[in-house]
Amino acid sequence: MRVLVIGASRGLGREFVRQYLAGKAQVTATARQAEQIAELEAAGATAFTLDVGDAVSASGVAWRIDNANFDVAIVNAGVYGPRHQGLETPSETDFDAVMHTNVLGAMRVIPQLVDALAPGARLAVLSSRMGSIGARESTSGWLYRASKAALNSVLKDVSLQLAGRATCVAFHPGWVQTDMGGAGASLTPARSVADMRRTIAALTPAQNGSFLNHDGSAIPW
Ligand SMILES: NC(=O)c1ccc[n+]([C@@H]2O[C@H](COP(=O)([O-])OP(=O)(O)OC[C@H]3O[C@@H](n4cnc5c(N)ncnc54)[C@H](OP(=O)(O)O)[C@@H]3O)[C@@H](O)[C@H]2O)c1
Repeated sequence: MRVLVIGASRGLGREFVRQYLAGKAQVTATARQAEQIAELEAAGATAFTLDVGDAVSASGVAWRIDNANFDVAIVNAGVYGPRHQGLETPSETDFDAVMHTNVLGAMRVIPQLVDALAPGARLAVLSSRMGSIGARESTSGWLYRASKAALNSVLKDVSLQLAGRATCVAFHPGWVQTDMGGAGASLTPARSVADMRRTIAALTPAQNGSFLNHDGSAIPW
């Protein structure tokens, strides 16, 4: 099995790499820093530098993965941004940083992945339940929420374009103990990623274009 993980320096992305390597997959992974690339390579992955927020860096993805035939591609890179509780207008800098990473990053990278997917591949973006409008009960982190709602829209369009060729889903990984989720989160990265790997392996073409919890249950858009 061939797997691509975009944004694998730490947290959930790094755990996807660890678990897929342990399962004997061939893993290609990206990170922003040279030391992290070296670490990923030492662990057994093929790795290259990618900053999804940088147009020049992101434009180089296609040639790096030419003819790769990935069975699984995971677009994981993301940032949370300001921890607003109410309707505080974000600064332009914060808005651009969050939207460029979480939305434009996916719109830069995914079109370059299409030709590198094996027939019947599975493509997952790491969204968040916080991006759900149907399940919304809080306004905390409204910039992050807006970015993940926009990412969900991006994923839906990708699923329409790739229908019949790949199964594309948006994931909520749960609330996970990473730098983003914090130490008080309810799930370990190992558990969240094990669940998502199991869900990815069991995906059927009928689930193309769906928004799923890590355990495979559906989340309202
Ligand atoms: N943890 C949770 O509870 C939770 C809940 C819902 C959704 N999620 C989503 O799950 C994904 C992974 O989250 P996490 O908890 O593992 O977060 P994390 O520990 O903060 O890690 C974020 C990852 O994204 C990468 N990244 C950020 N900006 C990037 C850029 N411009 N280009 C390339 N890579 C970039 C980081 O790389 P650097 O090391 O270079 O910064 C890092 O590998 C995110 O999309 C997040 O929104 C997480």
